[in-house]
Amino acid sequence: MNKSILRKAESAFGRKIILLIHGPNLNFLGKRDSQHYGTMSFDQLIAEARQHAKKLNLKLKAFQSNHEGDLIDFLQSNSATALGIIINAGALTHYSYALYDALLDTKLPCVEVHLSKIQIREKWRRVSVIAPACKKVISGKKALGYFEALDYLSNHLKK
Ligand code: DQA
Repeated sequence: MNKSILRKAESAFGRKIILLIHGPNLNFLGKRDSQHYGTMSFDQLIAEARQHAKKLNLKLKAFQSNHEGDLIDFLQSNSATALGIIINAGALTHYSYALYDALLDTKLPCVEVHLSKIQIREKWRRVSVIAPACKKVISGKKALGYFEALDYLSNHLKK
């Protein structure tokens, strides 16, 4: 079965899968600088995002890794059955051209999310090399940014 037939079949059965990907150090949420990242733990964040996705009839497949290659392997193995991607790549955002290529290769609509407002932080953090592979970048809204990303993808998929 080719990829687009598989995706259509899954949506028809109400299983619109969105990949929710997190890069390095985000598993430490709750222990990191709360001024930038809030107080919510990583597990809480994923649970809240799942709840919001459910309301939109979307199903999240969540993955976190501290290793660039693992994130790329995950994208390569799972994009065929997904309809969209939400990614907070952590610091890889600012220098991983390999991740940019992998996102582009999925041909899926992607939203880049950051908990903190990267535009007003250190100079190097203001640059995202993965943003050109994404339809939208949301930053500085903490967990609400993930809800906004899900709303965006939900509307985008209806078009
Ligand atoms: C982050 C911002 C990145 O610059 C940083 O390296 C992170 C988290 C955010 O969510 O604000 O680890 O992606």
